[in-house]
Amino acid sequence: MTVLSSQYPYPTVFGSNGLVESYKEFAPTHAIPEKTRKNEIQSVLNRITSTPGFDPTMNFDPSKHLIFDPKSYDTTKTFTLSELNINKTHVPKVTDFGAAYPFPLLSEEAVNMILYEAMQSHIIDKYARLPNLATNATRLDFHIGGHAAEDAPFTKAVVNSPEIAEIVSTFFGTPMEPIYNSETAHMNVSLATMDDEESKAYPQTESEIKEMLAKQDAGDGDEIPSSLGLHYDSTTVALVIMMDLPEEAVGGQTTILTGNEKTVRVPEPKIGYATMIQGRVLKHLASKPVTNHNRITFVNGFAAAGAEKLDNTALTSTKPSVLPRARFDLFYKDWVDYKFRRLEAHLKYVREKVVEDYEAGKGFNQEAFVGKCMDIEEYFRKCYDEMECVNNPPYPPPHFKIPYEDLP
Ligand SMILES: [Fe+2]
Repeated sequence: MTVLSSQYPYPTVFGSNGLVESYKEFAPTHAIPEKTRKNEIQSVLNRITSTPGFDPTMNFDPSKHLIFDPKSYDTTKTFTLSELNINKTHVPKVTDFGAAYPFPLLSEEAVNMILYEAMQSHIIDKYARLPNLATNATRLDFHIGGHAAEDAPFTKAVVNSPEIAEIVSTFFGTPMEPIYNSETAHMNVSLATMDDEESKAYPQTESEIKEMLAKQDAGDGDEIPSSLGLHYDSTTVALVIMMDLPEEAVGGQTTILTGNEKTVRVPEPKIGYATMIQGRVLKHLASKPVTNHNRITFVNGFAAAGAEKLDNTALTSTKPSVLPRARFDLFYKDWVDYKFRRLEAHLKYVREKVVEDYEAGKGFNQEAFVGKCMDIEEYFRKCYDEMECVNNPPYPPPHFKIPYEDLP
């Protein structure tokens, strides 16, 4: 450990650094309060189970539950990073894709099933926690995630749908695949309070609402109430699907920061509509509605597919000491399984390519091989260098605050 601690200056998880000290015990300090479960969560469940025709045993059927229309490839407004004036990024961008405005993706029935599975009492026990560092978060703002593989069959089928991967790939401009279980089916939940006393804290009149929105937009993004403050994602692309947002709700969009550090709100998606961002290099936050309304999004991480490439996923904002809903053993099992599977496939690809080239009479390209090894070394280090037993720098890390133009 001596060698490690000289290399990594933060060997200890400190609450004073914005980290969750009880990360190994699944952060009991961040459990969802009983009041929220009994009132607001139960109310979401009641609404779903009273929907005519709702069947909790339903299977995912892409022909029925995917409402994507290929015309959306042409009609959806998209932004490249260049169009957002983002010229420098803290890690290399994968493509120039920046963001896509909402397009229809999931039917209401599918949305209800995903919500129904996520809000079950045993799922809330096992996979839900209040956020760690959030702006103005309350007992009604929390995250659920990592439940798809073992405890939510319908959600699991949606997460692994080849049809959805195809849609993401087409928008993004290169083949993409869903990443590890713990980083899929992540839900950002903000619920409306059913407590009359608490509801008084929300703006009541139209002019109060306008004033609050204007105040947020004038700020630097950190002042916008959110269930997750201004951040870069640890995954290449986030596909964000709206699960709940009443039409009367004001605010509550995904807000992105452009190259000149201005906030831009991606327009409110309707229920079942999706937006996409290259969140690994695009600074953003999920804002809460300004009004007293539910906002629930379903976020799925995607990374470049294929053995010839390595993914750029990191642990920075998703490791259990930063994101309390990530359960230590499950999270790292998923992480290692994913990263090593990618690495194994890539090593095999590189080895076979060397042999193939030799046998085709092309000889051995030493420089190219060394380049590959250096990428693999870097990738291998990222598999462990942010783990809690090694390094726990203060969160949020400094690069979340550095203007794009000042990045090295
Ligand atoms: Fe994000």
